[in-house]
Amino acid sequence: MTDTTHGTIESHSLEVESYPPSAEFTAQANLNDPAVYWQAAQDPEAYWAGRARELKWTKPFEEVLDWSNPPFAKWFADGELNVTANCLDRHVAAGLGDRVAFYFEGEPGDTRTITYGELTHEVKQAANMLTALGVTAGDRVAIYMPMIPETIVAMLAVARLGAAHSVVFGGFSAESLRARIDDARAELVITADGGYRKGRVSALKPTVDDALALAGDGQPLSVEKVLVVKRAGNDIEMQEGRDLWWHDEVASYDGEHTAVGFPAENPLFILYTSGTTGKPKGILHTSGGYLTQAAATHRDVFDLKPETDVYWCTADIGWVTGHSYVVYGPLANGATQVIYEGTPDTPDWGRWWSLIEKYKISILYTAPTAIRACMKVGRQVPEKYDLSAIRVLGSVGEPINPEAWRWYHEVIGGGRAPIVDTWWQTETGAIMIAPLPGLTRLKPGSAQVPQPGIDVNVVDDQGGRVDRGQGGLLTIRRPWPSMVRTIWGDDARFIDTYWAKFGDQYFAGDGARVDEDGDVWLLGRVDDVMNVSGHRLSTAEIESALVEHNAVAEAAVVGADDETTGQAVVAFVILKSQQTLLSEEEAEAALKKHVASAIGAIARPRQVFVVNELPKTRSGKIMRRLLKDAAEGKEIGDTTTLADTSVMQTISQRMRAER
Ligand code: WT7
Repeated sequence: MTDTTHGTIESHSLEVESYPPSAEFTAQANLNDPAVYWQAAQDPEAYWAGRARELKWTKPFEEVLDWSNPPFAKWFADGELNVTANCLDRHVAAGLGDRVAFYFEGEPGDTRTITYGELTHEVKQAANMLTALGVTAGDRVAIYMPMIPETIVAMLAVARLGAAHSVVFGGFSAESLRARIDDARAELVITADGGYRKGRVSALKPTVDDALALAGDGQPLSVEKVLVVKRAGNDIEMQEGRDLWWHDEVASYDGEHTAVGFPAENPLFILYTSGTTGKPKGILHTSGGYLTQAAATHRDVFDLKPETDVYWCTADIGWVTGHSYVVYGPLANGATQVIYEGTPDTPDWGRWWSLIEKYKISILYTAPTAIRACMKVGRQVPEKYDLSAIRVLGSVGEPINPEAWRWYHEVIGGGRAPIVDTWWQTETGAIMIAPLPGLTRLKPGSAQVPQPGIDVNVVDDQGGRVDRGQGGLLTIRRPWPSMVRTIWGDDARFIDTYWAKFGDQYFAGDGARVDEDGDVWLLGRVDDVMNVSGHRLSTAEIESALVEHNAVAEAAVVGADDETTGQAVVAFVILKSQQTLLSEEEAEAALKKHVASAIGAIARPRQVFVVNELPKTRSGKIMRRLLKDAAEGKEIGDTTTLADTSVMQTISQRMRAER
């Protein structure tokens, strides 16, 4: 990466480049009184109770936080609400039925404009259809879809019934999909024939067929029905008795459906994310607290004006950003959004900017990896478009390097739009650390300030706060409304992963430092989790996919710095001695493909190196730190603890030969 600023920056506030909010922006901002921070800090529970009361409750809560059984938090537990009614019916009842909820743009150029009234009608019909298919409160429904309106309709229909969805990103393999279906014991899968990506049809239904035909986890297959949305028109097989066409079914259902309230702690969704071991973790989010924080942060951090803004978050619904900042936060706030099905380079790199011009998008939320990719193509592309409606820019997924920040600010934001760098995680459910655009003096590369009512710390190994100017581990001490409630079906792993290290603080897995002003600079993961294009991948999961291949004896995977994707997967493998079928080059190509088909294209290694040995300590632990140095072309770190100190020499010679 070109960035060298974060982590090494001298924490002297005067030396750090910073951008104060303009007087005009502050004057019109939703939040422009810094008192909000200390007011919330005085009594965080009262603060969050106030934010929760911005929602519509069918039964008001009395109890705010129940932390009597840590780390299992309950928020607003005696209250009841319907999440979907908060996102839809409430706005229609307020006379906003004609407001546009979504401008949808398909990759081939087809468009749809959907108002809140229309979306509500579609969700009600879908809820009636799901009820007829047997979905009730407490069930799980898997969703494996492209980025189209029906995906959102499906999620909201599931939530309306008090059932939980488990959205699986459409880029995941049949094996990954099946593992998630089995873990959640989903009874229904909602999918599409295919979607459009990079100018081609990318099939989805055949992957569902493959997933359901796999052996699975040994228990009887939980899935009874598969609903298929017709999107791309590609040829697919429909299994009699199991598979149903969404549009054929839904048309026969009534558009009236009364939403009932469910307890605030009713599960809303499970979303799987990679951890340090091979098995993905099913992050469980519930209803009232989650919706409260998703909506509040969406309004505050993006300075949303639902009446006039056009908001676009480029994240796919398959990730938590799509859940919190395409579906739940923005819809709870009655926002008007753009959703786009495809990739930024189709038919050419002007596509995103043409959407901003066409829909007069005023708030754009995207990831540093996308910004860097656009930077590489050059500013002459966005400069051809009218981006003058942009007034707030957001960033998420990894630290944004100052060079990308400045480009984003200048070229996309016209030098006027503030950039909010938002730190959060699948587990936190909603934004935790970010500037407030009307209040914060922005520093490129830093997420800066915990949100009002959020208690973030940077601590040493013993859990004590580090001094300003120092680095440490990021923790969260006080429970927050949208926090993960557990790992689905595995309370022990939940405790072990996030709470065992410090006992009374949530350990995020990120390194961070606080500067002299108290601003937080994120420094990346401190565990065996990689961040590739803003997506989390587990070292262990890719290693276990590699050793499943019959040519591989041993494998080690590292996340190496990459100019565009932040980190990239680099694998080192030892082939089985008896395997003679593949040359080294063939093995390297075959293994890249193998990982992509075992986990998904996002996990495909940038490089695979066949080596004779891996660097190990005397106790047999692979020293990935040294492999990471080698993969980044750096001076190899301390090798004195290696069992065989010559291994790294051989590997780095090999790597140099490749360059
Ligand atoms: C990890 C969480 C939150 C939605 C996208 C990713 C990294 C995320 C930032 C940021 C520095 C960031 C962290 C975190 N991360 N946003 N603004 N600055 N790092 O969600 O897949 O759950 O990954 O992404 O390392 O732990 P996720």
